[in-house]
Amino acid sequence: MTTVQYPDLVQLFPASTNQIPDQFRVEPIHQREYLLDGEMKQWSGKIAEVYSPVCIPDTDGTLQRQLVGSYPVFGPEQAMEALDAAVRAYDNGRGEWPQMGVAGRIACMETFIGKMLEQRGLVINLIMWEIGKNLADATKEFDRTVSYIYDTLDALKNMDRNSSRFRIEEGIIGQIRRSPLGVILSMGPFNYPLNETYTTLIPAILMGNTILFKTPKHGSLLHYPLLEAFRTSFPKGVVNSLYGRGAIVVPPVMQSGKVNVLTLIGSSKVADELQRHHPKLNRLRSIMSLDAKNAAIILPDADLDVAVSECLLGSLSFNGQRCTAIKIIWAHRSIVDAFLAKFSPAVNKLKPGMPWADGAKITPLPEPTKTQYMTDIIADAVSGGALVVNEGGGETVGSIFKPAVVYPVKEGMRLYREEQFGPAVPVVVYDDVEEFIEYLITDDHGMQASIFGTDTTKIADLIDPLVNLVSRVNINAQCQRGPDTFPFTGRKDSAEGTLSVEDALRSFSIRSAVATKDTAENKAIFNEIVGEHKSEFLSTKFIF
Ligand code: G3H
Repeated sequence: MTTVQYPDLVQLFPASTNQIPDQFRVEPIHQREYLLDGEMKQWSGKIAEVYSPVCIPDTDGTLQRQLVGSYPVFGPEQAMEALDAAVRAYDNGRGEWPQMGVAGRIACMETFIGKMLEQRGLVINLIMWEIGKNLADATKEFDRTVSYIYDTLDALKNMDRNSSRFRIEEGIIGQIRRSPLGVILSMGPFNYPLNETYTTLIPAILMGNTILFKTPKHGSLLHYPLLEAFRTSFPKGVVNSLYGRGAIVVPPVMQSGKVNVLTLIGSSKVADELQRHHPKLNRLRSIMSLDAKNAAIILPDADLDVAVSECLLGSLSFNGQRCTAIKIIWAHRSIVDAFLAKFSPAVNKLKPGMPWADGAKITPLPEPTKTQYMTDIIADAVSGGALVVNEGGGETVGSIFKPAVVYPVKEGMRLYREEQFGPAVPVVVYDDVEEFIEYLITDDHGMQASIFGTDTTKIADLIDPLVNLVSRVNINAQCQRGPDTFPFTGRKDSAEGTLSVEDALRSFSIRSAVATKDTAENKAIFNEIVGEHKSEFLSTKFIF
């Protein structure tokens, strides 16, 4: 662990557990069970210990990450058992879940939401302890996820209503509905361990697929209280746990060729590796949100107060650990000094503290190597001639890292291209907007960008090239995923497929049609099947 160097930062950490408010304390949770084939199975094998980024000094004054609990670590054998359970539950599309009508699936999901809400307090606490997210954002993450599920249910109802009628074209009568794809391997990230995982997991379940659910390394325990809700809300085998190191448990599962969809929120490098394990890539659908280096440009006529407040939110919410974070700022030479003169003090006003501390914005970083990584990437820029322009930027103690504004960042410095995913804000100076456009063209990422300005001609001149380089252009606003009904995707290494409430339902399903020639005999057959409710698919049932 890091030795104490900065007494002021050290004081942010509790001196002992007594200093942690009662409502935010958690007894270590030692998970010794997992969900497989509709049962909570006991686990007696290898375990991984979970340490919080929240530290307490030991008797030597060395900050120690606190134990939050432990969870099972599967080997390839248990991974294959989980896969087999999902394959059995899907049963080539003949399982109870893929055969269940939309109304039945919606009812199961509503049961799940009720049970999920019972765990709200514990899950929010675990988000704070496992990944250091502050109380307000952890609460928002939980509540936003519940809203997302409700919105998804509404979108599914609408989709089903539109499919409940027949089409007659070119002498063919047909009904078209969305059907499941099969077995889904779902892998979520640490930064939004609940929300981002569920924005793929929930639509995947709802569309009738069966799931292998791999939790992230940081942010795994918080899923434990929800396993029982999955077990008791859905038929057996619909959701199956997959724990352990991705490099050990995922390759055999992919090599089996039995995974139909890989959904991953993570890095493009990992995505490439995992996909390659599949023996028939043409059969694998991938829905992924990956790397991003979202750039903001500040035009000479920008309202600097707006630019500062949006760039602050955009670059440093949750310590910059958002895929949608603004990860590089381009400021025009004529206003760069004025921008930095406002931005640096605003960064320094962000309150550091423990996740539960009132108003804390800069909180402990969950990845144990992150503070060193941030130090190195900033040192690299400094060795190339950049400066840390905010006082104390880059100071670090234990898992806390004071955000650093680094300027001028240039091509050749790691901060120029690397996705730092943490509290460092590189600022680049430019003379001509073409330099910014060229940066986006040559960048490997293509998620979002922000334009700050007031001159409509200049803004419009940037919008048109930028929309073909990234997937969302924000005007005088930070980059962000929400609202969840907006398409969330990216170009190049930033994404594959599109997520949003409705897009996700489409991504995890495929259209199937039942069709016949428009003859009296065939109409009579369709009428009898529909009239006597003989089929779930061929049906005009309308969900109200
Ligand atoms: O990490 C990526 C998240 O989807 C970002 O969501 O823009 O709402 O923070 P957000």
